[in-house]
Amino acid sequence: MKTSFRSASELDAGKISILVNRAYRPSAHERGWTHEANLVSGQRTTEEQVLSLFCSRSSVLVLIQDTNIVACVHVQCEEYSAVIGMLATDPGCQMQGFGKQILNYAEQFAFEHFATTTFKISVLSPRTELIAFYERRGYARTGEMVGYPVSAGIGEPIVHGLQVEILTKQMEKPSS
Ligand SMILES: CC(C)(COP(=O)(O)OP(=O)(O)OC[C@H]1O[C@@H](n2cnc3c(N)ncnc32)[C@H](O)[C@@H]1OP(=O)(O)O)[C@@H](O)C(=O)NCCC(=O)NCCS
Repeated sequence: MKTSFRSASELDAGKISILVNRAYRPSAHERGWTHEANLVSGQRTTEEQVLSLFCSRSSVLVLIQDTNIVACVHVQCEEYSAVIGMLATDPGCQMQGFGKQILNYAEQFAFEHFATTTFKISVLSPRTELIAFYERRGYARTGEMVGYPVSAGIGEPIVHGLQVEILTKQMEKPSS
């Protein structure tokens, strides 16, 4: 089946929020290989929160298979780095390489549009399988921990003292 990447538009926000919630906080019958339903309850995002990401130095990218959005990611440019977040693959489409492909696309996008080669990702610290996934993509643990952002409206921790670890990657500049 044919796949392609593109920047999302505000018209995609509803579908993206459904995809993100299904991937991050899946119900018991549709869980992918890694998720956070056992760590955080409630919705990961809403259509309104996705719409708020369509702003300056912030882009939402999607991977399309045929006509369906099967993966997404958010790239936010900060002063010295790009923050990559909301990486999600539809649970029914996981383990086909889409997560790796859209993460790589996000890094290239950040380099081309924001001229940065430094990337940051926040991961719930108990998710060792996901941290290993990012380490295989060149990210390094920093040991920098922050508490789960309970007031951000992105769900309630189920486990006590849940922490988020910051991972970083320094990409080599493509030779010109
Ligand atoms: C993380 C996520 C985007 C990965 O998407 P995906 O499309 O399944 O990823 P890919 O198919 O590209 O890669 C699958 C990888 O997982 C690994 N994997 C598969 N099953 C695994 C398992 N049970 N345990 C550990 N690793 C596993 C594969 O080996 C592969 O890694 P490798 O190529 O380095 O060997 C997807 O699982 C997801 O949406 N999860 C929920 C949302 C989330 O947690 N996002 C990240 C928040 S920081």
